[in-house]
Amino acid sequence: MGPAVTAEELEALARRHLWTHFTRLGAYQDRPLPVFTRGQGPRLYDVHGRSFLDGLASLFVVQAGHGRADLAEAGRRQAQELAYYPIWSAAHPAAARLAARLAAVAPGDLNRVFFTTGGSEAVESAWKLARAYFKEVGQPQRTKVVSRALAYHGTTMGALAVTGLPAIKSAFEPLVPGAVHAANTNRFRSDFEPEAVADDERFASACAAAIEDAIVAEGPETVAAVFLEPVQNTGGCFPPPPGYFAKVRDVCDRHGVLLVSDEVICGFGRLGAWFGAERYGFLPDMITFAKGVTSGYAALGGVVCRDFLAEPFLQGDASYAHGITFGGHPVSCAVALANLDVLQEEGLLTHVEEAEKGFAERLQSLRDLPVVGDVRGAGFFWALELVKDPDHPEIRFTPEERMALIRGQVAPKLFQRGLICRADDRVDPVVQLSPVLTFGDAELDEVEEILRAVLTEVRTS
Ligand SMILES: Cc1ncc(COP(=O)(O)O)c(C=O)c1O
Repeated sequence: MGPAVTAEELEALARRHLWTHFTRLGAYQDRPLPVFTRGQGPRLYDVHGRSFLDGLASLFVVQAGHGRADLAEAGRRQAQELAYYPIWSAAHPAAARLAARLAAVAPGDLNRVFFTTGGSEAVESAWKLARAYFKEVGQPQRTKVVSRALAYHGTTMGALAVTGLPAIKSAFEPLVPGAVHAANTNRFRSDFEPEAVADDERFASACAAAIEDAIVAEGPETVAAVFLEPVQNTGGCFPPPPGYFAKVRDVCDRHGVLLVSDEVICGFGRLGAWFGAERYGFLPDMITFAKGVTSGYAALGGVVCRDFLAEPFLQGDASYAHGITFGGHPVSCAVALANLDVLQEEGLLTHVEEAEKGFAERLQSLRDLPVVGDVRGAGFFWALELVKDPDHPEIRFTPEERMALIRGQVAPKLFQRGLICRADDRVDPVVQLSPVLTFGDAELDEVEEILRAVLTEVRTS
């Protein structure tokens, strides 16, 4: 142990030496950076001993809750037995067991798992696998991907190209070529005709047609894959209209394009099922995962793919020439196995399924506040969209107004009242909830109470 360090000294060390992610460093030159020191169940504690309710599962990650001895012990045991060996032309028991376990919970014949250390690498690996697969089966011109406007799929150069959020891309351009974007399922602010938006079937058809139009515009013979989240995160939890994924599956099949379900957020109980694909009843060709697979007790991600995608690589000299030193790390795999046990044995998927209605009702009850324009989501993944004028939601905040509302009022007030959630001003302002999956009535009541207090106080002009 080093010398005792005070809260103020820790904050100063972080401010001076730590490059915090997605942070305007300048904003913390004259105000404290939050420093969290421990967690227990649904709560986090900062360096000053203040308690916070983790309504974001610490960035959509900590499904099973904080401070669990069982998950920590699973990691300790594995580190002692075999801390590390790569899965490069080799296996270790934890990776083999976890791959089989994921194959068992994934839908259909998604039976083969390529491990990474996180979600961006998972998306990167899925795109690379799609390209490598098509080269092997004699369609080398299929290299492009279609994803949706605003959707976040990660930050490495390939995954960033798949991402549809201009604000986080422009500094790094030119990106990997060949990624195009189509309309998402934002029903509150859609460019489709209002009559089509109001009707489930027509809206689903219009959104699926937008994906088909993008494929056709690029030339279907050049498109390798479509990447979609079951519920799109960025923009504020856009659920799919009923029937949407069946239509998208059909579009992909007709054009010979692979369908990738990016479940980095939506997997492992977030939507009350192992995967969003199961909830929405479609069979993707690949599932990308990360975050909740370990509940954050170690770093892991990966791609689960259908058997046919591995077939060309099962014979001769063919190889998917891709690997990552810490992909499928033994400690991470052991922790993931223990975490899947927890999700199953403690019935957390069923709990989310059962608690969804009550959570939704609590959030929907906030619609009486003039600033709350829309409430949408699924499972334990919801967003409130904030509006300037409830009678005219079409009048949008300017970027400066969004920033003043979210960074100047909503985010600090939520933090002061001890609720961790996401207040996002990158597009139309939203407050997102993605709680630890153990949240019960008491925690959900607390979320509602704090949101009501904060959203009653904020001023939009
Ligand atoms: C849908 C989706 N894909 C990919 C990623 C990237 O994951 P990571 O931050 O683990 O690289 C994220 C991260 O939030 C995500 O939400």
